[in-house]
Amino acid sequence: MDLKKSVRSIPGWPMEGVIFRDLTTLMLDPAAFQKSCDILYERYKASSVDKIVGIDARGFVFGAVLAYKLGIGFVPVRKKGKLPAETLEESYSLEYGSGTLEIHRDALDSGEQVVIVDDLIATGGTAGATVQLVNKLGADIIECAFLIELPDLGGRAQLRNCSVFAIMEFE
Ligand code: PRP
Ligand code: ADE
Repeated sequence: MDLKKSVRSIPGWPMEGVIFRDLTTLMLDPAAFQKSCDILYERYKASSVDKIVGIDARGFVFGAVLAYKLGIGFVPVRKKGKLPAETLEESYSLEYGSGTLEIHRDALDSGEQVVIVDDLIATGGTAGATVQLVNKLGADIIECAFLIELPDLGGRAQLRNCSVFAIMEFE
């Protein structure tokens, strides 16, 4: 199965010059959705992962499935203002804007082994801010995992101290 065929591309959204890679079509296709989750599970099932850190919002879909399959906890990294307890925050910019992400201070313990999951890496701003948050809590990052990488936007360079895995690449 070619997973790339289940990704919808929308030129000019959310702004001119961006080709939006829409994974809602992959999620609608049960075989493609299962296959992408299975690829992630197979990759990490033998690692000693303590927790999955998923990035708001589309990272929650794939990250939560992976945490369930691995039988471990899930930590949401959320856009600012959504988490109710004490948080750490980190600002970032991305392909089409900027923002601030937060994590609960008590979500990770020092020395825990985590995998960070998001749907897509473009400039790496969003994942880079998440790496900073995880580092501030003293956890160790086994890998940052994405369904899609846009290599032309250089996101890997933002995550230079982390291993990066992506299932698919798009221009
Ligand atoms: C998208 C995507 C990644 C981020 C990648 O999220 O889900 O989180 O952009 O871009 P970057 O590598 O340039 O930082 P978006 O901010 O659109 O939020 P959403 O998941 O809530 O739609
Ligand atoms: N996040 C940043 N750039 C993106 C793109 N081109 N498609 C989907 N999500 C994105």
